[in-house]
Amino acid sequence: MSRLPPVSVTVYPYDCDAYGHLDEAAFVRIFEQARWENFSRGPGLQMFRRTTVWPAVRKMTIEYHLPAWPGDVLDVHTTLVRMGRTSLELRHTAIRQGDSQTVADAVVLFVMIDGSGNPTPVPDELAALFSARVSTRSGEVVRYDVGDVTLAVDVRGDGPALLLLHGFPLDRTIWKHQLATLAGWRRIAPDLRGMGASEAPAGVYSMATYADDMARLLDRLRIQRAVVAGLSMGGYIAFELLRRHRDRVAGLILCDTKAEADSAEGKRGRDQSIELVESRGAPALAERMVQMLLGRTTQQTQPQLVQEVREMISRSPAPGLVGALRAMKDRADSTDLLGAIDVPTLVVVGQEDEITPPAAARKLKEAIPAAALTTIAGAGHVTPLEAPIAVSRLFAEFLESVRDS
Ligand code: MLT
Repeated sequence: MSRLPPVSVTVYPYDCDAYGHLDEAAFVRIFEQARWENFSRGPGLQMFRRTTVWPAVRKMTIEYHLPAWPGDVLDVHTTLVRMGRTSLELRHTAIRQGDSQTVADAVVLFVMIDGSGNPTPVPDELAALFSARVSTRSGEVVRYDVGDVTLAVDVRGDGPALLLLHGFPLDRTIWKHQLATLAGWRRIAPDLRGMGASEAPAGVYSMATYADDMARLLDRLRIQRAVVAGLSMGGYIAFELLRRHRDRVAGLILCDTKAEADSAEGKRGRDQSIELVESRGAPALAERMVQMLLGRTTQQTQPQLVQEVREMISRSPAPGLVGALRAMKDRADSTDLLGAIDVPTLVVVGQEDEITPPAAARKLKEAIPAAALTTIAGAGHVTPLEAPIAVSRLFAEFLESVRDS
């Protein structure tokens, strides 16, 4: 149970009944006042606006023990009784300063609701106030403020941290199988800024911005080091994390990615994609890219996945897509970085990946000391989604070796 510092409230005559003592209804107001004071001392009341989550009171039980009189000062203590995924139970206890007697206490049950009134996970900032943690269920996200942007993040399980960075123009759901299965690890899959359900602020997007967002997200989760798994653009961000926040990276999984910067032709391709998104929106990019992203075996045998990826791209916010295209176009070459990588590294590539083909993965393996390489048969560029069981098994084995090292 986590107890917050008390809030002192003075009893005034206008809160009292005809007999002169604090009336029952006034206790509700006093407890509510103490609660909001605690929230405002903690994460701040803006948190509710930022996260678009509202703590709705569902039930309140009050026990009155003693009368309180005008001039009494009550210390209201707030304690976390229980925290569920979407609910919170708090106990408020009013103790009179004069004689240290408990005057009343109340237990209040809250359910967190989103803008449509549906239950939604407890915001991390609120959980942190009580030194508690939130863990999500499949498809649910917690919103984390990492500076100038709020990210939607799927966080599951407990253990050492595994940060899962998706590629372009995808979102956190490419990791759904790994999120669901890699027990014993705290799996963290954010939507990068401008993608999925994260905010897409206008302005400059760069690999440095994405990497700094991830370092701040780890700060918010109170995690010092994580194994970082990056798919394609997620890999470019992992390289940038090594450059800028080396001490946060405990291990690397480089999936369907490469170290080289864009060629002149690649940069022209980025400009064409930017033009396409700006003129015809995300669905047009989805039509252009979906076949390139998925291997031919997946296209033949998993038509539902083709549709899933098409929809994933189509719902991406256009400013975020354009931002990511510019960031990839301008990214630095990371080849020089490879020889100095001294954390355990696994390179994974789909045999049918046409965007970052097996040859690119072999280059990574050869340049990174002590890297291992696995090629996944029958998968293209989005291996965690196309071959989920093989990839999750591979990750699990690698993570065990990192845990033991
Ligand atoms: C990705 O999957 O992140 C992109 O295909 C990478 C790229 O276009 O360079």
